[in-house]
Amino acid sequence: MILSSIILQACGDKMKVIEVKNLVKDFGGRRVLDGISFEVEEGEVFGYLGPNGAGKTTTLRIILGLLNPTSGEAMVMGKNLAEDDEARKKIGVVLENDGLYEGLSAFDNLEYYAQLYDVSNRKEKIEDLLRFVGLYGRNEKVGFFSKGMIRKLAIARAIINDPEVLFLDEPSAGLDPEAQRMVRNLILELSKEGKTVFLNSHDLDEVQRICDRIAILQRGKIMVCDAVKSLRRKFSGPRVIISTSDNKSAGRAFEILNPLDFVSNCEIDGKKISLMLKENKQSSLLRKLSENGVEIEEIRKVEVTLEDIYFKMQKEEEK
Ligand SMILES: Nc1ncnc2c1ncn2[C@@H]1O[C@H](COP(=O)(O)OP(=O)(O)OP(=O)(O)O)[C@@H](O)[C@H]1O
Ligand SMILES: [Mg+2]
Repeated sequence: MILSSIILQACGDKMKVIEVKNLVKDFGGRRVLDGISFEVEEGEVFGYLGPNGAGKTTTLRIILGLLNPTSGEAMVMGKNLAEDDEARKKIGVVLENDGLYEGLSAFDNLEYYAQLYDVSNRKEKIEDLLRFVGLYGRNEKVGFFSKGMIRKLAIARAIINDPEVLFLDEPSAGLDPEAQRMVRNLILELSKEGKTVFLNSHDLDEVQRICDRIAILQRGKIMVCDAVKSLRRKFSGPRVIISTSDNKSAGRAFEILNPLDFVSNCEIDGKKISLMLKENKQSSLLRKLSENGVEIEEIRKVEVTLEDIYFKMQKEEEK
């Protein structure tokens, strides 16, 4: 820990654990990453978001030293993982393909990796981990495991060496809601233990539940990189849902509200209008509706989700 503290660069009180600078990646003349830069601090859960094909896995593979960038660099704890065996021992990785041995039990899979990492007190450590991920006592071969069980075991494998940084590529993809929650809780537990977590995902709901900070990748560029909380504050006022008495009134309300400069993302759905409102503008909105004789039955505020922000940004990008 002392050594890594020296290696890490101070960033205020926190250390920069992952530093990505100006990454460019071309595949056969096609630019997939176009100058990506971001930093992840010690102890953060960082969400790396973007639609399918945005370049999330490509970025991760470059960070892990599995793929060379066309230009730019990626450092983990101050080291290039492609060149540093010692630094690689301090990370844990869950990639899309889980890399587990189907012919072995969960215990034997972990035993194999524990030996590779030269983990001490192996039996005890493996049993603790199997309890942690809820697989203790499952002695069948991994080939008979469900997807969720395999993912849990992949996470156990990724943390067998007690890594300082954990990289996860879509850890919840293809899992049922129960298993997704289990994976989320595991990540939150690890975060409480002070681990730094880098999470690739296109699941906005998952990301906003567990991440401290996110970057949104689109068309090879980072569109935004900020704390989830401050994104909610910065990008919008609250989302407001207005219920009117019938579809006709909703249509009228839409015509009145949509052009207003303190209203954005105005959408109509039957008798309801949903919109984003600048702070402190609710009374102006109500006044406009009442001046125009539109009766409303209910108005309520809902918390802005990452999804709202994400789609709002996509629309702005398309303009
Ligand atoms: N080895 C490769 N050779 C050529 N093109 C590649 C290679 N790896 C990735 N790509 C292309 O790079 C782009 C980004 O792929 P990447 O897998 O990084 O996206 P992603 O954001 O992880 O998507 P997903 O959400 O579907 O996992 C895609 O268009 C993909 O086809
Ligand atoms: Mg991917």
